[in-house]
Amino acid sequence: MILVTGSAGFIGANFVLDWFAQHDEAVVSLDKLTYAGNLENLASLKGNPRHIFVQGDIGDAQLVGKLLAEHRPRAVVNFAAESHVDRSILGPGDFIQTNIVGTFHLLEAVRAYWQNLPPSAGGGVTRDSFRFLHVSTDEVYGSLAKDEPAFSETHRYEPNSPYSASKAASDHLVRAYHHTYGLPVLTTNCSNNYGPYHFPEKLIPLMIVNALAGKALPVYGDGQQIRDWLYVRDHCSAIRRVLEKGRLGEVYNVGGWNEKANLDIVHTVCALLDELRPRPDGKSYREQITFVTDRPGHDRRYAIDARKIERELGWKPAETFETGIRKTVQWYLDNQAWVSNVQSGSYRLWVEKNYAGRAR
Ligand code: NAD
Ligand code: TYD
Repeated sequence: MILVTGSAGFIGANFVLDWFAQHDEAVVSLDKLTYAGNLENLASLKGNPRHIFVQGDIGDAQLVGKLLAEHRPRAVVNFAAESHVDRSILGPGDFIQTNIVGTFHLLEAVRAYWQNLPPSAGGGVTRDSFRFLHVSTDEVYGSLAKDEPAFSETHRYEPNSPYSASKAASDHLVRAYHHTYGLPVLTTNCSNNYGPYHFPEKLIPLMIVNALAGKALPVYGDGQQIRDWLYVRDHCSAIRRVLEKGRLGEVYNVGGWNEKANLDIVHTVCALLDELRPRPDGKSYREQITFVTDRPGHDRRYAIDARKIERELGWKPAETFETGIRKTVQWYLDNQAWVSNVQSGSYRLWVEKNYAGRAR
């Protein structure tokens, strides 16, 4: 049994679905179901007795303590977070609350549970076998110049957005719980993910969804900012590998050596849609690209040096960018009901309030 937080979000849901494709080990899912959490992402697990979903907050230490005592998981995998940089700029409060304060309460509940486990040997989970895996981002390292080497695990922390600062703080808390209390932690810092169930406020799904809706494709600034892209299921396989084989207290950077400029990403999405779902007027979706005001403090480049996880744990991604992006565009074409469902509630109201008059 493992406990997965944030399991109704993009990566958490992919992780749980992928977990059951590999294992029959039970999962307790804890998710607050914010605008970004959708139970529909886990709909294929409905009726599966090995999956237990609980709606709740990682910051509710009493609830987390109760779940830990009841289910006695051998590991906690923490995906729960506020995750969108633009939202963190418009309102950082929820990011501080969930990513920092929430992670702190989660760690406290986990520490109390772990300290009461039997020390070692015997059947079941022990203090030696338990793991707390914290899922984090490469954005904690800040922005790279064009010619700088990619982020290794020893790169200095230099977060630039409220989102990345809040994730950096949570990474530090996790580290401190290992060094101070001996909590058996692992941390992964991954590059930008893409794939199914990606909420359509992030670059790739927003471009697909807006293109199909005949809306503008808003490219921030000159579109030459670089991100390093990894197909979400490859991130999930890396997390599973770190959980099983990672050295305690270590950090593993996760990425697939796929640096791309944003404008190139948008062109690729347009080209795939031109092929798979041509516009009725025969023109390219590129016509919809609109350059808009840049994001404040926009990081210019992220890039992951993945040599440690490759060398130590033998992990490699299964998808290239070309195969992964084609699957992703096809998934959005095949799942337009999912798109309209996730857009219909609080997300739509939030966009209307915060982006009124901007190309969106
Ligand atoms: P997401 O926004 O799609 O999902 C986050 C999930 O957490 C949602 O289901 C939401 O309901 C839940 N949640 C939010 N606050 C909560 C709380 N207080 N208690 C319980 N649940 C809560 O995010 P994602 O893209 O799936 O990211 C998951 C994790 O991976 C985050 O920690 C993020 O920092 C990290 N990460 C994301 C990327 C990426 O490219 N998306 C890359 C590297 C790391
Ligand atoms: P995003 O998907 O928000 O991820 P992150 O900011 O965590 O990297 O954005 C990816 C890149 O795309 C980032 O450089 C900002 C840019 N971007 C746009 O140009 N237009 C958009 O509408 C969005 C959402 C992002």
